[in-house]
Amino acid sequence: MKLVFATNNEHKLKEVQEILGDQFELMSLADLGCDEEIPETGPTLETNAAEKAWYIYTRYGVNCFADDTGLEVEALDGAPGVYSARYAGPQRDASDNIRKLLMVMDKINNRKARFRTVISLIIDGVETQFEGVVNGTLLDSLNGTAGFGYDPIFQPDGFELSFAQMDLAQKNEISHRGRAISQLVQYLNELK
Ligand code: IMP
Repeated sequence: MKLVFATNNEHKLKEVQEILGDQFELMSLADLGCDEEIPETGPTLETNAAEKAWYIYTRYGVNCFADDTGLEVEALDGAPGVYSARYAGPQRDASDNIRKLLMVMDKINNRKARFRTVISLIIDGVETQFEGVVNGTLLDSLNGTAGFGYDPIFQPDGFELSFAQMDLAQKNEISHRGRAISQLVQYLNELK
């Protein structure tokens, strides 16, 4: 089955392609010829994922899915959450976001945080959502260079490594997006 993943993020495409394997032919927005900035204007991960998937489905008429992820910090009542990409401003810069979060968390002892991913899948005009969560701890300095976003300061529960110190396969096995994608794959396999 051909499926469009509504993202421009090469890291995510690689992560998801690795999980999907060759059962599904994953197409990117570039493969579709779509170079527009897809709007994400909603107040929640659920509304943003749906908005992005419907944007592609209504314009291109292709089966597709979109994801939206947030880093939810317990001591900050779930912030930056849906604003994770833009936490330090519209430039969406990962280093700026990390710097701001470390500053905000400076004197805060409760370092519990989680990544949460919501995926909206649209097949023949019917939408289904999936969720994946990974709990962990916010480190107080950067560790590792792999991955993207907040990976260097997020240590998943049960591990002594940050996400940025893991290889892709290890991260995918336990990550928010890996878990949400596994559910998506299970659902797609049941459809076949
Ligand atoms: P998106 O909805 O997947 O684009 O994620 C929004 C923001 O959350 C990204 O810009 C990153 O800052 C952060 N983020 C999402 N997934 C990850 C991840 O796997 N590791 C680290 N940060 C992530």
